[in-house]
Amino acid sequence: AYTAEPFLPGGRAGLPGLREAAAGCRGCPLHRDATRTVFGAGNAHARVLLLGEQPGDQEDRQGRPFVGPAGKVLTRALDEAGIDPDDTYVTNAVKHFKFEVVPERGKRRIHKAPNLREMTACKPWLDAELRVVDPEIIVVLGATAGKALLGSSFRVTEQRGMLLPFEGRGESVLATIHPSAVLRADDREAAYEGLVSDLRIAARAIG
Ligand code: URA
Ligand code: SF4
Repeated sequence: AYTAEPFLPGGRAGLPGLREAAAGCRGCPLHRDATRTVFGAGNAHARVLLLGEQPGDQEDRQGRPFVGPAGKVLTRALDEAGIDPDDTYVTNAVKHFKFEVVPERGKRRIHKAPNLREMTACKPWLDAELRVVDPEIIVVLGATAGKALLGSSFRVTEQRGMLLPFEGRGESVLATIHPSAVLRADDREAAYEGLVSDLRIAARAIG
């Protein structure tokens, strides 16, 4: 089975050590076509850990999570919900960009959703980030992130907007839509307001 496990540093590596090790991960085939590993970023002691799906085109180029169009939506929504960006750590369920090149679309790299094997392979990095950051709340952005953290029965439409327990630890989970779903929605304004109101529940939970 694909797994990142052999690439994890031993001992109690902090985020810099994890990031460095993840740069060389070959735990699944996604490292082959992507430019680089995009590890999590932000406050190592954040109370809020934000979990996305996987890096997009811009993130793959720049090496940081949520720096593209979805990241702009997320930043604005966090601000409106009253979550301080300095109190967040942002990462993805899968650390390499998965895409297909569509020649008819000017060779653009089009995002492809990671499959269960890739999500499972990459999970040790997320587990390590969760151990180090030890957030009070994990905000799950969209269905893929939810499935990666909570299992394949997760449904964002049913479980968004409420505080869910996270097994084995003290923190809770708040699920919401992925910010890129806002950009794709027929009614963008309504989708955006839904994202903000979910994030407000996370903001209230940490006081
Ligand atoms: N979408 C994600 O899920 N993560 C990113 O880092 C960027 C876009
Ligand atoms: Fe490793 Fe995750 Fe990249 Fe796969 S996607 S190579 S498991 S870092």
